[in-house]
Amino acid sequence: ATERTLSIIKPDAVAKNAIGEIIARFEKAGLKVVAAKMLHLSDEKAGGFYAEHKERPFFKDLVGFMTSGPVVVQVLEGDNAIAKNRELMGATNPKEAAPGTIRADFAETIDANAVHGSDSAQSAEREINYFFGNDEICPR
Ligand code: CMP
Repeated sequence: ATERTLSIIKPDAVAKNAIGEIIARFEKAGLKVVAAKMLHLSDEKAGGFYAEHKERPFFKDLVGFMTSGPVVVQVLEGDNAIAKNRELMGATNPKEAAPGTIRADFAETIDANAVHGSDSAQSAEREINYFFGNDEICPR
């Protein structure tokens, strides 16, 4: 079925000038960018996005990293988009990411892991609405 998922190109990948190469992977896999913007997240915006991790020991480092530079937030649309994006990204820890995945090719550490992608239909809906209004999404 056609789905939408939220993708974030994180500060490490933006700093590496890899925005285009990462988006090319999404497009080559048949995912369409239907919304996109570059943002420098505040502590509050990043913390709210990762609210489910608030009690985790890595929360402070995660928010610190995600606010360390600009990110590119996108809505990707396509058949099976949520799982497809997770396949393209590879494992959260780049050391465990399969060869040829975005994290294997662009990421260094579990915090600086190049990309975020929604992990379920429910989180995709929440995460898309967290960053985009309906008038910022362009069905095509
Ligand atoms: P992301 O998919 O953006 O969701 C939460 C992020 O927390 C994750 O990617 C990692 O970058 C970061 N993180 C840091 N340490 C851990 C950990 N031990 N387990 C899961 N995520 C972690």
